[in-house]
Amino acid sequence: MLKFARYFASLLILCFLGGFISIYALEDGNELEKGNVMHTPVKKQVCLDCHSAHTADPEANAILKRPKQVLCKICHSEIFEGNWMHLPIKKGDCGCHNAHRAPYKYNLRTDPEDAKLCYACHSKKNGKKFAHPPVEEGRCTACHSPHGTDYQYQLRKETKELCMSCHIKFKDFFKQNPKWHPVLNEGHCSNCHDPHGSDEYRYFLRGNLSDKHLNVFTLKAFEFCFICHDYRLATEQVTTNATGFRSGKRNLHFAHVNKKTLSGKNCLACHDPHGSDQNKLIRRRRKFGEYDYTIDFYKTSDGGKCHVGCHSDQEYIRNK
Ligand code: HEC
Ligand code: HEC
Ligand code: HEC
Ligand code: HEC
Ligand code: HEC
Ligand code: HEC
Ligand code: HEC
Ligand code: HEC
Repeated sequence: MLKFARYFASLLILCFLGGFISIYALEDGNELEKGNVMHTPVKKQVCLDCHSAHTADPEANAILKRPKQVLCKICHSEIFEGNWMHLPIKKGDCGCHNAHRAPYKYNLRTDPEDAKLCYACHSKKNGKKFAHPPVEEGRCTACHSPHGTDYQYQLRKETKELCMSCHIKFKDFFKQNPKWHPVLNEGHCSNCHDPHGSDEYRYFLRGNLSDKHLNVFTLKAFEFCFICHDYRLATEQVTTNATGFRSGKRNLHFAHVNKKTLSGKNCLACHDPHGSDQNKLIRRRRKFGEYDYTIDFYKTSDGGKCHVGCHSDQEYIRNK
């Protein structure tokens, strides 16, 4: 008898739920659930795929078959795969979507196109002085999966591949210049560039780097390179260990870079920050305003030789 009563009650609930199909889930009357984008099982009216008329999980509200935190996983297990999960997803919080219907594609509660979705929980990343267009356009998901991937920060690809998916000219560049800046061997363009833009530095570099060919030397002018490299390579006039670019103890970095008048060379006058076909990232060619020259650099066992337009052929030997 008791069993029958419970069955009857369940049936009532089922009808009750059915009633909601028109009243709540499918009509515009429900303030909580507006929008024309309907979750496919709701459209198909298979309410009982998620709701139970008979035995609801005691943990679950709204007579759900399983608690909300695991419900979506039943049918969308692939979303929960990846070594690096977005924390809300890891916790089973799928609250960006409405389970029934919502105004935006993928039954999202907020428009995914303008980053509002992300800014609900994250600080703003747009509006920087040196802005990166995809960030400015709010296309966070061009780079990040909202759920999870195998890469840190749930990036869609390893960073170098990710950047090159839009900056395709670098694919050819790296083929023609197979000696990369070592930072790139680990695949991180973002160690040097802040992918979200910068208020201070051009090309959203992580530090200041002069854009002038000739400079009065200051540490600030080349701060960017000195984030990772010991500045002594440019400040010790005489050295046996601050740099390999020396003739005996005479520091040739100092000789080229460290000037009190507007005649010190930029690091970029000789080096390409990304890669080169020559050793030590010595660039083959430099076009800069009125400057356009080629450099041929030959590494020797204890130094190097340069053939360059600026002066006659030069050779340096470190231990002499
Ligand atoms: C994909 C799974 C899924 C399907 C299919 C589904 N629901 Fe739900 N339903 C949910 C979840 C999850 C909640 C809890 C929402 C919350 O707590 O935010 C819910 C809540 C409800 C509620 C409680 C009111 C509310 O908004 O919290 C009613 C009533 C309801 N659903 C009716 C239906 C009806 C009727 C159908 C079939 C047209 C249906 N549901 C189909 C997942 C689903
Ligand atoms: C009973 C199975 C089932 C459950 C549970 C389920 N879904 Fe779905 N969902 C589907 C099906 C079927 C589709 C249609 C697309 C497909 O075949 O992958 C879909 C599609 C979607 C889509 C793409 C838009 C659409 O409707 O086609 C989103 C977003 C989505 N589900 C979110 C969720 C969320 C969030 C939950 C948990 C509240 C959830 N789903 C639970 C079956 C389910
Ligand atoms: C419901 C709140 C919420 C929303 C919406 C949200 N996130 Fe998150 N996100 C978090 C939380 C919580 C963490 C983990 C805490 C943290 O590190 O900030 C996180 C972490 C991250 C991380 C890793 C941060 C780190 O330092 O490890 C990235 C990347 C991220 N979210 C991107 C996004 C993007 C892109 C969007 C929009 C598609 C988004 N999030 C929307 C809550 C949210
Ligand atoms: C061009 C690709 C790209 C876009 C677009 C992008 N990100 Fe990122 N994001 C990255 C990369 C790469 C990292 C890792 C940064 C690092 O190594 O410091 C990252 C890291 C993060 C982090 C964790 C570290 C931090 O800075 O807080 C959050 C949170 C984040 N992004 C949120 C967002 C949000 C929100 C948007 C949209 C406004 C967005 N991202 C757009 C590439 C991108
Ligand atoms: C979704 C496409 C997209 C991705 C992914 C992307 N970018 Fe960009 N990026 C652009 C666009 C568009 C511009 C502006 C046009 C241009 O200069 O190429 C730009 C501009 C830049 C600039 C400034 C170039 C200039 O001449 O002003 C730098 C630096 C840059 N991106 C670095 C990166 C790095 C580093 C990554 C990886 C973390 C990355 N981008 C990923 C689309 C992208
Ligand atoms: C070791 C640091 C470093 C790394 C790693 C690095 N960059 Fe750069 N990048 C720079 C510097 C420095 C400049 C400024 C060059 C200049 O002023 O001529 C620059 C300039 C740029 C520019 C604008 C000028 C141009 O050539 O179009 C883009 C775009 C760019 N980098 C993209 C990338 C991408 C994509 C990656 C990863 C494949 C990457 N960078 C990795 C240091 C780096
Ligand atoms: C994010 C850290 C980082 C930044 C910023 C950086 N480098 Fe490097 N660089 C490295 C590392 C790591 C190595 C490999 C170890 C070493 O030689 O110190 C390296 C190596 C080099 C080498 C030697 C390459 C070889 O083939 O032996 C040159 C030349 C170089 N960097 C120039 C520069 C210049 C010029 C700048 C500024 C435009 C710069 N780097 C900015 C990390 C960085
Ligand atoms: C006149 C050309 C020239 C200029 C300008 C120049 N370099 Fe170099 N750099 C070289 C040469 C040549 C080497 C190779 C030394 C060797 O190993 O034989 C080198 C090597 C390096 C190395 C590898 C480690 C070492 O010191 O041997 C780093 C790092 C480096 N330079 C950074 C810089 C930075 C940072 C600047 C700007 C402050 C700069 N360079 C300016 C020519 C130059």
